[in-house]
Amino acid sequence: MEKVRIGMFGARRGGSYLSILQADYMKDKIEVVAICEKDYETIGTEKNHPGAPCFKDFDEFLAYGKEHGMNAVFLANYFDEHAPYAIKCMEAGMNVISECTAASTLKECVELVECVERTGMKYMLAENYPFSASNLEMNNFVHSGKMGAIYYAEGEYNHCGTYESFESVCVSNPGKHWRGLLPSTYYLTHAMGPLMYMTESMPLYVSGRSTFSPVMYSEQADHRSNFDGCGMMFAEMSNGMTARFTGCTQMASDYSRYRIVGEKASIENSGITSGKVRKFYVNRFRPEGEPQDCTYVVSQSDFGPNGKLAATGGHGGGDTWVVCNMYEYFVNGKDPFFDVYRSVAMSATAILGWKSALNHGENFRIPDFKNPADREAARKDTDTPFPDANGEGATLPPCLPRN
Ligand SMILES: NC(=O)c1ccc[n+]([C@@H]2O[C@H](COP(=O)([O-])OP(=O)(O)OC[C@H]3O[C@@H](n4cnc5c(N)ncnc54)[C@H](O)[C@@H]3O)[C@@H](O)[C@H]2O)c1
Repeated sequence: MEKVRIGMFGARRGGSYLSILQADYMKDKIEVVAICEKDYETIGTEKNHPGAPCFKDFDEFLAYGKEHGMNAVFLANYFDEHAPYAIKCMEAGMNVISECTAASTLKECVELVECVERTGMKYMLAENYPFSASNLEMNNFVHSGKMGAIYYAEGEYNHCGTYESFESVCVSNPGKHWRGLLPSTYYLTHAMGPLMYMTESMPLYVSGRSTFSPVMYSEQADHRSNFDGCGMMFAEMSNGMTARFTGCTQMASDYSRYRIVGEKASIENSGITSGKVRKFYVNRFRPEGEPQDCTYVVSQSDFGPNGKLAATGGHGGGDTWVVCNMYEYFVNGKDPFFDVYRSVAMSATAILGWKSALNHGENFRIPDFKNPADREAARKDTDTPFPDANGEGATLPPCLPRN
């Protein structure tokens, strides 16, 4: 493959990626062949992203793509419907880059892994938060060898006001749109992903907690959507550390934040957009010439050619890194960090973290999706909080039960 010839599925979030995929600096590398979005007229997709035909129907979009040399699909459709569409695309001979989450049941985790193995197509998750400047700086320090063994890592993805901003889908569309049905542990990739990336670790066990939000409850007339404000998980990780991370929380904090603590030093940041990082050494392990405690600011331009492109990119530049990494993977074969195994491990942590929260923090083992015995057990597990098109089939509540 010399050029990524991609189709975009879902043009709301997908619209911000279309702006990068169609940017001048990508024109020799990437071409947008077609867009699938059933609301493209309302969203203004044709006007904002000319040059690629819009389809309302996914099968027509895929058929057009097949006829016109489309070799990849970007999935930015509903959060809970990524895996079945990823499978359709790979079966049609196209590589896939998927928004979070990779899969919404354990059964889908198995099916996704097996589809990648069976078809040999490329699959990656568009997890962008590891690639903010402050998280890239933390990653460099974690890999510097100056921290000793890593004991602890924490990640918070705070999206305060989410409920307000998505009022139209959560309140006026009760019990239907994924944003209103999302258990508090499910949207964890932006909190957990950077920790996995920095420490190159995998989750082994998870325990979760959820917290009721009186405000979210009172804002809903019929109380059919999620009204938990915060989901918190603890995980035992493969490198021996303990990790603590959230789902998408509504906590009164305007930034997402990360911290890695080792036996010799720690590093933390105050958000993906500020670039502010704090580094601290235990004094006897402080390298000569370095301060024990310092706070400084980094920017994308400190991080090479991709960083220079990312300086104006969304989510602290992370979106641009995702597109650059996708190109390297699809065209040059450079494996992405968030391959299918790490991607489904995060989805499984979200699902089991929720089962744990419903059971007062019970500890759950995360399946190893490379292990055939673990796959067989997970293959039967269809538990989901998301109803089907008829409003049926949800087996898990979207929030903690209230009396
Ligand atoms: N990484 C990030 O920073 C980030 C930011 C925002 C959203 N996201 C993710 O991106 C995805 C999309 O988010 P969103 O906020 O745009 O969600 P959304 O539900 O508002 O939009 C999804 C779009 O897909 C379209 N769509 C879904 N199924 C379709 C079908 N069968 N045919 C035609 N069109 C269809 C819908 O019409 C809708 O416009 C989610 O998975 C979300 O988690 C990630």
